[in-house]
Amino acid sequence: MTDAQQVQQQAALSLERLWPRLETTFRDEARAATADWRAFEMRLRQEWERLFELLFSLYGGQYDFFYHIEELLNTAARTWFARPPWLKQLEARREATPAWFQSQQMVGGMCYVDLFAGNLNGLRARLPYFKKLGLTYLHLMPLFESPEGNSDGGYAVSNYRRVNPSLGTIEELSELVREFQEHGISLVLDFVFNHTSDEHEWARRAQAGDYEYERFYFLFPDRTIPDAYERTLREVFPTVRRGSFSWREDIHRWVWTTFNSFQWDLNYANPGVFRAMAEEMLYIANIGVEFLRLDAVAFIWKRMGTSCENQPEAHQIIQAFHSLARIVAPALLFKSEAIVHPDDVMSYISPRECQISYNPLLMALLWESLATSEVKLLEHSMHRRFHLPQGTAWVNYLRSHDDIGWTFDDNDARLKWIDPSGHRAFLNQFYMGRFPGSFARGLPFQENAETGDVRISGTLASLAGLEQASQGADEQRIALAVRRILMLYSIILSIGGIPLIYLGDEVGTLNDYSFASEANKASDSRWVHRPKADFAWQEKVENDLNSPHGQIFAELVRLLTLRKQQQAIYDSNTEFVETGNAHLFGYIRHGASQRLFVVANFSTYAQEIDANQLRVYGAGYHFTDLITDQTLTAERPLRLQPYQYVWLEPCSLPKVTGKSSERDTYVSDGSLGKP
Ligand code: GLC
Ligand code: GLC
Repeated sequence: MTDAQQVQQQAALSLERLWPRLETTFRDEARAATADWRAFEMRLRQEWERLFELLFSLYGGQYDFFYHIEELLNTAARTWFARPPWLKQLEARREATPAWFQSQQMVGGMCYVDLFAGNLNGLRARLPYFKKLGLTYLHLMPLFESPEGNSDGGYAVSNYRRVNPSLGTIEELSELVREFQEHGISLVLDFVFNHTSDEHEWARRAQAGDYEYERFYFLFPDRTIPDAYERTLREVFPTVRRGSFSWREDIHRWVWTTFNSFQWDLNYANPGVFRAMAEEMLYIANIGVEFLRLDAVAFIWKRMGTSCENQPEAHQIIQAFHSLARIVAPALLFKSEAIVHPDDVMSYISPRECQISYNPLLMALLWESLATSEVKLLEHSMHRRFHLPQGTAWVNYLRSHDDIGWTFDDNDARLKWIDPSGHRAFLNQFYMGRFPGSFARGLPFQENAETGDVRISGTLASLAGLEQASQGADEQRIALAVRRILMLYSIILSIGGIPLIYLGDEVGTLNDYSFASEANKASDSRWVHRPKADFAWQEKVENDLNSPHGQIFAELVRLLTLRKQQQAIYDSNTEFVETGNAHLFGYIRHGASQRLFVVANFSTYAQEIDANQLRVYGAGYHFTDLITDQTLTAERPLRLQPYQYVWLEPCSLPKVTGKSSERDTYVSDGSLGKP
């Protein structure tokens, strides 16, 4: 008998033993809702073998394995009975259309509840605004109870079942979720499971010397083991503290803290940790969350002698969480937050692990292309690395609440005659505004004096040049910055996947330097791109087409509507092409009998694409540019203005049978106004 067969047998035997016990425990609930209980049994039986195999391979060697498994099943059944009926109905709809999240209808937004709207009630009042943008996905940044003062923007969670009192209550959150869902907006919340805050009850008990909870974390009496690990660890927050361990005077222990010293890494080699976190996850699932953003996935398994990132067990743990979710909250989707090497980013994406993932490579390379005005690395990398397995999707973004790191592959760069480390140094200089001719106003984040590493903070608008141009009141530069921003948006809206807007960026919000005078924020430059929303100001500029902010907003809203109408922008099957011009990024989308050829100009100068290229990639002779609603004919090169973007759809005949001179106006207008 093979090992696999043996595990299968063990799985079957275990369920045979466990099921009657479960039936006894939940006798009353099952009697009151027989059909519901049968549905649970069916799901459990379907998923059991997989869940068991994963847990067995992670924890089978531990003496208390069976105890944890039984407790896990009890939690699953309890969660199932507690799951609100409206969610079960929604789930049935989702299961009937499993590809729903790959649709071109999807548009994501993200915000901090406090910074964007004060509290949960304020956020509810913003519903009309979210609808105006056409959002179908809203990521609320961590809103659970966390330490006063610095809590890493809420990423240090003290209680996963209580909303931070200044934002509201868990009941208000549940109501909000349901209301937003009725308006077609799915809620996304974080599952911060790599670490808890040092104020979480588990951490407090560990501090009090409770052996059970000491084993939840990594605590060491001296430097022997920390030193041994640190030989191969990367420093994630080197300006916070050197290394990855923090000394706690009160308990005389070194604690593993990958991020801030108050964020204690959990020890997933302990099955008790898996089970405890699974309970928290299922609790969050029952609030009505449709996407769980799995925070810092790369770091959850430690192995001496490695970087302790992206270990095989990290995948097994996520898969086991997912398998459990399949039983109790079957429509819950996982979003991976792995801001690491592109191969590793990819390794988390699968229908049985994380169904959606941030696309940090596209994000970084869009900025890279903007700085160099050339698209060779972007084109090459996307050609190799954009395609995803069926049933999964990218979340494409320009800015998030975090810094920008240049996570491209070194060999991809070398293949394009780019020296990777020199290039990273250039990009950092460029975005910190220290490179001659740079339009960007970014700040360094986590500058490591020893290695020279640094990452970049800044809002979309400030990095794209609007801050610098506005200060100089230079009309032409302002117009260029606006075009850069809109071109970047046009790409994440048409490339395939879920576009994600960091709210505030849709009106071109500039850097906010006030963080530097706030004690809890001063040491973390990411706050420069997390400004407080000013709706009074926004209402003034939003409809003012003379203001760059109004221009960005109006055009973005138009592009969002346009995106939703294109059948071709569905899933992540995109064909990247060589446009024959170093500054033009081009790709083809097809689906549901529609074909779109998208071209974007990354240069400050007008650029041309050859007529032949246009005919071949566009598969036609006459095209409608959906962006301008104009028609053109591929009988001569197409000229794109600085940062212009076109979405070309073949048409049988020119829509407007204008004189050829009219079409010339379209292709050769040199003004910097609206393309
Ligand atoms: C993720 C978050 C980041 C946070 C870190 C630690 O990377 O995006 O903001 O600092 O995890 O939780
Ligand atoms: C974590 C941090 C993020 C950083 C990334 C890579 O996700 O939160 O800021 O960019 O790690 O170091």
